[in-house]
Amino acid sequence: MHLSYLVRLLTYMLYLTFFLVTVSCVSVSHQNMPEEDTAELDLLKKKCTLCHGLPHPKRHTQEEWGYLLTLMEKRMNEKNISYTTEEMIQIKSYLQRNAR
Ligand code: HEC
Repeated sequence: MHLSYLVRLLTYMLYLTFFLVTVSCVSVSHQNMPEEDTAELDLLKKKCTLCHGLPHPKRHTQEEWGYLLTLMEKRMNEKNISYTTEEMIQIKSYLQRNAR
């Protein structure tokens, strides 16, 4: 077996590894969210990814979301991140109707 052939094989395997790693990372960050392409989900993506990853509605129950959103408003106030009452109502409604 030629050395150049071996090098090419190894390069190919390296590319394949990179490819697989990339694909698996993308699929993790792109989780399936309910109600794709709605204004409410857009709002969640815009307002709720500034400090951490996109939270999936199934992570919590309706009651938990009520409590958590109050907590998040506090966190946003601390960081001077602006939001309107209307926006929070829409986000809360989306999370609660798709809750666990
Ligand atoms: C200003 C930064 C900030 C923003 C903006 C923010 N969060 Fe958070 N979030 C935090 C911090 C910090 C924590 C860790 C818990 C804590 O200290 O309150 C957290 C924790 C959470 C958790 C943790 C519980 C879990 O399931 O792991 C959820 C859910 C969550 N946030 C949802 C939201 C939602 C929904 C929004 C949008 C309305 C939002 N966050 C916007 C800072 C933020």
